[in-house]
Amino acid sequence: MAITGASGAIYAQRLLDNLDARRHEIHLVQSNYAQQVIAEELPGGLKLPDGIKSHSLKSMNAPFASGSNPPEAMVVIPCTMGTMGRIAHGCSEDVLLRAADVVLKERKKLILVPRETPLSLVHVKNMELLLLAGAIVLPANPCFYAGAKTVVELADTVVARVLDHLGIENQLAPRWAREPE
Ligand SMILES: Cc1cc2nc3c(=O)[nH]c(=O)nc-3n(C[C@H](O)[C@H](O)[C@H](O)COP(=O)(O)O)c2cc1C
Repeated sequence: MAITGASGAIYAQRLLDNLDARRHEIHLVQSNYAQQVIAEELPGGLKLPDGIKSHSLKSMNAPFASGSNPPEAMVVIPCTMGTMGRIAHGCSEDVLLRAADVVLKERKKLILVPRETPLSLVHVKNMELLLLAGAIVLPANPCFYAGAKTVVELADTVVARVLDHLGIENQLAPRWAREPE
């Protein structure tokens, strides 16, 4: 899991809150700007559940930095346009970007959660490249039909979709009920 300096730190916190480090090996990397946005948006800072291993951006010794040991999945949440562009163009100067590069080349699951709006053609072209390379672009667009009453519940409508794409069973947000026949 990677956190970058986009607005939406709550999405990262809620994903962390809903991952189970007893069932999955979870590693976390934060971009330099992630810390700044977390300071603005999460009173009390990021709360790291037990068992999650945090890595420095500069530590290329992290186990997931090599194609010989790729993670099954990587989520960049929230994902800045800068990081998205760097991943799209194969820049891998730190362990966050390198991990994304590894995940793509090893054909593992890369889920990017941008918040940006509106989008420029540059953003859309980068997204196109990433989609062609096999990434999942899952914008942080909460849904309003689920009756969320709080900001956390609203954020959870996005995090639930991330968990779904990770293949992690969850009841985080109500699902659309089928019409009775
Ligand atoms: C409070 C705050 C909110 C920001 N929100 C966004 C955002 O939603 N999307 C984005 O692309 N950049 C956003 N930025 C700008 C990025 O943090 C900046 O472009 C930074 O260089 C991104 O670096 P990173 O991709 O390594 O995290 C925000 C910055 C701050 C301080």
